[in-house]
Amino acid sequence: MPRATMRRLALLLSGIGLAGAAAVGVGLATDVLTPQTAAIVVAEAVIITGVAVGLFGIKRVDRRVREELSQTRTELAAQHKRLKAQLDQLGSTLTLGLAAADGVRAAVAEDRVEMLSRLAHTSEVLARFDEGFSARVARQADALELARQELQRIGSRVENVAADLTDLPAQIMVPVDEALKAASARQTRLGNRLYAKLEARAELASLVRPRVPIPPLGGWALDADVMYFIMRAVWDRRPELIVECGSGTSTLWLGYLAERLGVGSVVALEHDDRYLDTSRELVRSHGLEKIVEVRHGPLQPWTDPADDDGHTYRWYSADVLEGLTGIGLLLVDGPPAAAGPQARYPAGPLLIPRCRDDALIILDDADRTEEKTLSDRWMAAFPELERTLFAHGSAHIFQRSVDQRM
Ligand SMILES: C[S@@+](CC[C@H](N)C(=O)[O-])C[C@H]1O[C@@H](n2cnc3c(N)ncnc32)[C@H](O)[C@@H]1O
Repeated sequence: MPRATMRRLALLLSGIGLAGAAAVGVGLATDVLTPQTAAIVVAEAVIITGVAVGLFGIKRVDRRVREELSQTRTELAAQHKRLKAQLDQLGSTLTLGLAAADGVRAAVAEDRVEMLSRLAHTSEVLARFDEGFSARVARQADALELARQELQRIGSRVENVAADLTDLPAQIMVPVDEALKAASARQTRLGNRLYAKLEARAELASLVRPRVPIPPLGGWALDADVMYFIMRAVWDRRPELIVECGSGTSTLWLGYLAERLGVGSVVALEHDDRYLDTSRELVRSHGLEKIVEVRHGPLQPWTDPADDDGHTYRWYSADVLEGLTGIGLLLVDGPPAAAGPQARYPAGPLLIPRCRDDALIILDDADRTEEKTLSDRWMAAFPELERTLFAHGSAHIFQRSVDQRM
C-alpha cells in the first residue's frame, strides 16, 4: 500500500476512534447507551484507535528505516567511493606490478636467451677443447710410445756396445789406460814442480837479500827451482867467472851471490837493444855494476866449421867472447827460439872450450824439441860432458870432466 494512503487511513481511523470514544462518553453520560453497548463501542474504538496507532507506529518505523536506509545508502556510497578509489589504486598498482613483472619476465627471458646462447657457446668451446685435448693427448701418447720404443732401441744398443766394450781387445783399452795413467802422473809432476818452485823461491831469500825489488822468476825468466839449483852450485863451487847467454832476472841473483861470496863475476850476453838497456838499468839499480857486466852481442850468422852440412845459426856477435876463459859456470838461456832452429847450439862449440875442465853447464828450456836435439848434439860433440836432467827435464845439467874423459 502506498505511504500516503496509509497515512490518511491512520488519520481516519484515529479520528473514528476518537469520535467513537467521544460518542461513548456522550452516550453514557446521556444514558443513551447501555454499559454493554458502551463497552462494545469502547472496544471497537480501542481497536480502531489501536489500529490507527499501529499505523502511526508503522509510519514512524518506516521513516526511521527510510532514514537509516538513506544513511546506509550514503555510507554505502561513500564506502563504494572509497572502495572504488582503493580498487583504482590497486588497479594502477597491479598495472605497475604487471608492467614490472612484464619487464622482469622480459629481462629474465632475455637473460635466459643470453645464458642459453652462452651455454651453447661454452658447450661448443668445451667440445672443441675436448676434441683438441683428446687429439693432443692422443698425439702425446703416440710420441711417448715412439720415445719408449726409441729408448728401448737405444737401451739394446747400449747393451750391445757394453758387450762390445767388454770384449774390446786389450790393444785398444791398454793405451787408453796408459794415457790416463800418464795424465795422472803429469798432474802429480806439475803439483810437485809447483811445490818445488815455491820452496826454491823461499830458499833463494835465505842465500841473498836483494836491495831493491827484483823482477819475478818464471815466465820469460828462469823458473825458481832451476835458479835455486844454479845458486846452490855457485855456492858450492865458487866459480870465478859465470857466463850467461840471455840477460834478465837470473843475472841479478847470480850477481848478488857472487857479491856475497866475494868471489867471481858475471858476464851476461844480450842480443836485444831494448832488454840490454833494461838489464843494464837493473844491474845499476841493484848496485851490482862492479860484479855484473851485460854485454851487447847483436845476433849474427855463424856456421860451425866442424859441421859438414854448413847450417847457419844466428848467434851473438863474436866480440862478446872476448876475455871469456876459465868459465866455471855457463848458463845457456838465450838467444830465444825465435832466432832460428837450435838457436842455442853455437854456445856448445863456442863456449864449452872456454870453460874450466870441471865447469858446470846448464841448458834451460831443455824440454823443447829444439833444445833436446841440440843437447844430444853437444853430448855427441863433447864426450867430456855428463848430462843429468833437472826439474822434470826442463833443464839439462852438463858436468864437464875433461880429466877423466880425455
Ligand atoms: C829466456 S829470457 C831469460 C833471461 C834470463 N836468463 C833470466 O832468466 O832472467 C832470454 C831473453 O829474454 C829477454 N828479456 C830480458 N828481460 C826481459 C823482460 N823483462 N821481459 C821479457 N823479455 C826479457 C832478453 O832478450 C833475454 O835475452
